[in-house]
Amino acid sequence: MIRTLLRTTKTSYIQLNQHNTIRFASTKHGKVLTTETMHPLVKSVEYAVRGALPIRAEALSQQLKKDPSKLNFDRVVFCNIGNPQQLNQKPITFFRQVASLCENPELLKTENRALVSKLYPADAIARAQVLLKNIGSVGAYSHSKGITHIRENVAKFIERRDGYAANPDDIFLTQGASEGVQKVIQLLTQNQQSGIMIPIPQYPLYSATLSLVDAAPVPYYLNESQSWGLSREDLQKSVDEARQKGVDVRALVIINPGNPTGQCLSEDNIKEIIQFCHEERIVLLADEVYQTNIYQPERRPFHSFKKVLKSMGPEYQEQELFSFHSTSKGMIGECGRRGGYFECVNIDPAIMEQLYKISSISLCPNVHGQIMVDLMTNPPVEGDESYPQYKAEVDAIFQSLGRRATKLAQCFNGLEGVTCNDAEGAMYLFPQISLPNKAIEAAKKEGMTPDSFYAMGMLEATGVCVIPGSGFGQEPGTFHFRSTFLPEENLFDKFCGSLEDFHKSFMDKYRD
Ligand SMILES: Cc1ncc(COP(=O)(O)O)c(C=O)c1O
Repeated sequence: MIRTLLRTTKTSYIQLNQHNTIRFASTKHGKVLTTETMHPLVKSVEYAVRGALPIRAEALSQQLKKDPSKLNFDRVVFCNIGNPQQLNQKPITFFRQVASLCENPELLKTENRALVSKLYPADAIARAQVLLKNIGSVGAYSHSKGITHIRENVAKFIERRDGYAANPDDIFLTQGASEGVQKVIQLLTQNQQSGIMIPIPQYPLYSATLSLVDAAPVPYYLNESQSWGLSREDLQKSVDEARQKGVDVRALVIINPGNPTGQCLSEDNIKEIIQFCHEERIVLLADEVYQTNIYQPERRPFHSFKKVLKSMGPEYQEQELFSFHSTSKGMIGECGRRGGYFECVNIDPAIMEQLYKISSISLCPNVHGQIMVDLMTNPPVEGDESYPQYKAEVDAIFQSLGRRATKLAQCFNGLEGVTCNDAEGAMYLFPQISLPNKAIEAAKKEGMTPDSFYAMGMLEATGVCVIPGSGFGQEPGTFHFRSTFLPEENLFDKFCGSLEDFHKSFMDKYRD
């Protein structure tokens, strides 16, 4: 028997039953699930990379299809997200050959061999055969940690990269790196007092996941005037302040190379961070998804946290570390396939079991993503039939990315009131822009942050979608935006030109 029916909004009611427990009910016209009744933690999540700017960009994209005459541009350029194939980066041929053979095993039958050999190189056919022998069908669930054969290949890749042993049992294949990060953060946090140190600016996966699990972000600032470097003092200050407030700081997230900031850490800096975590009893989460996007390899090569940790003295050999990698980045850019993995270093065996348990809840990572992880970690090598083409494709993308990174930084640095650090790695630039007071006032009138106001102006004028710095966090009183340097190289001059024109007219309008 319902005793009380209280109206809360136009559409939902709270019912108190005979036990006086509350439940929500819909009216004849309303929904049971509304933003009033939904999980409040989900409601609190912010995710700028897919926020207001990209939603408007999507609408403009639709408008271009219907009535292009009303807009000053002929294309929306999505620089809001590191999604290379969306901006026409070509997939690596060998990877797609193997993936397509795995998808259609009919092609591997003896009776089709003569025909298929005309289209596919022998090493792609052989690789698909090996994979299918180990996978069975791509339509079947796999082991929840990922296919054993592929985890073995990942372990060999890590060994070749670092020169230290890796155990396939310590590797979990995931749906992109994101899923792994979410799982690990879920495990690391107990309640609102559990703190995870995150860089500011940061990739919003981290702040969003912390909101979802209702744990405390413990920010540490990257130093823009020192190429977005981080110092041990800043880390110490941040952990001390958090602990004084009663936060139980458990882990430190490092994004290396950085997103949105593009810096690549030196080996000495990595050592300092490991020492800090060791002394403060903090678990390290190393997000290394951009490990092959390194544009100044002599000055700033990539060092994995695992390698540096293993090279340090015996007192560091119990340091807990999770490291994440992905098939979405590098020269591969297979974002939509959702391939990734994480390696657990020095993690308690009982926790490894818990990780396995939560991986089992979603049965298994998708098998197409797992195949891509196999290819990323075990690509063609010298002497293989496909190697020359594979190398040519990877080198061409890599060199072009380097050229585009330099060109876009030059373009930004040439704009009035804009300064931009070079990208040492990753796929982004994060310029700082000093906005005139008139623009700040105009933004206020529109109910927008000044950097969103600028970015929205850019989108409406040029079709270029970037993300305001407030979506990543920035030093109070500073304004930034993040742009990828992924637009096609043959269109890059036009792209830079339209940004220059927009900026000039924006400044002419609002200059104090
Ligand atoms: C730093 C960082 N980590 C993780 C991810 C997520 O990548 P994935 O596609 O593998 O989930 C991204 C994506 O942009 C990223 O920039």
